[in-house]
Amino acid sequence: MCKTIVITNQKGGVAKTTTTANMGYLLAQNGFRVLLVDFDPQGNLTATSTTQKAALSVSDILQIMVKEEPLPELSQFIGKAGNADIIGSSLSLAVVEKGLSAETGGEYVLQELLDTLKKSYDYILIDTNPSLGVLSINSLVAADLAIIPVCPEYYAVVGLNDLFRTIAITKRRLNKNLEIGGILYTMVDSRTKLHREIMADIQKQLNGHVRIFDSYIPRSIDVSNAVRYGSGISELHKENKATIAYQSFVKELQSYGI
Ligand SMILES: Nc1ncnc2c1ncn2[C@@H]1O[C@H](COP(=O)(O)OP(=O)(O)OP(=O)(O)O)[C@@H](O)[C@H]1O
Ligand SMILES: [Mg+2]
Repeated sequence: MCKTIVITNQKGGVAKTTTTANMGYLLAQNGFRVLLVDFDPQGNLTATSTTQKAALSVSDILQIMVKEEPLPELSQFIGKAGNADIIGSSLSLAVVEKGLSAETGGEYVLQELLDTLKKSYDYILIDTNPSLGVLSINSLVAADLAIIPVCPEYYAVVGLNDLFRTIAITKRRLNKNLEIGGILYTMVDSRTKLHREIMADIQKQLNGHVRIFDSYIPRSIDVSNAVRYGSGISELHKENKATIAYQSFVKELQSYGI
C-alpha cells in the first residue's frame, strides 16, 4: 500500500527539501517505487532533483483539475529524479495558491490528484513551502504521515506549537488518517551547547507525545555543495556523515513500519 508522507515545517530553511530529496533517493535505491511532489512555488526540489523534466508542473495540473478538465497523460506531468519520479513545481504555484483559497473544497485538490497515482507507488513524498497556508493544508490533507524536520536553533520550539495545532485541526476536520511520524533534527552540531540545550527543551516540551527520531542529520558543508551539482548528498558522497545519517533515518522509519 502506498504511504504518502509530507515533509513539513512552516519555518524556512530547516532542510525540508534536502530531507525529501535524500529520502526519495535512498528509498528508490532500496527498490521502492517513489514519487516526489514539489509543492513549493520556490521549486527547489525540482531544481535540485529533476533529471528529466516533464512538460507540465504541479500548478498546471491543479489548474486543470480546478477547471474539471481531464488529466493529461502521466508522461506530460511526471518527470524523473534519478530512480524516482517527480512532479515539479514553479513560481506559478503561488498564483494557483490564491485560486485554491477561493475554491470550494480547495484543501482537497492535491489529495484528489494523488489518489489517482497511489496505485503506482510505494511512497509519495511531498515537499512543502515554509508557510501554513492553503498549499500546506493541501499537503497535510493528502498525507498519511507528517515528518517534521527541525533545526535546533532559537525559535524552533515556538513555531512547533503552531504546526502541531494546524496538524491537529487538519486531522480533526479534513483528514482523520493524518499522523505525525516524528521530528527529525537536521543540521545538528552536537558539539554546540545551544543545540544540545534546545533539543533537551523540545524533548521536555513534547513529553513523549510526539516521537523524536533517534537518527539525526549532522551539519555538513558537503550537503549544500551537493546542491550545486544538482544532486542530493546521498547520491554524491556515500561516505559523508549526513548521507550515513539519512540512511539510518530511512532504516529507522522502516523499523516503525513506515
Ligand atoms: N545537514 C546539512 N548540513 C549543511 N547544510 C544543510 C544541511 N541540510 C540542509 N542544508 C542546507 O541548508 C539550506 C536549507 O535547506 P533546505 O532548502 O533543504 O531547507 P527547506 O526547509 O526546504 O527551506 P525552505 O523553507 O526555504 O523550503 C540549503 O542551502 C541546504 O543545502
Ligand atoms: Mg524547501
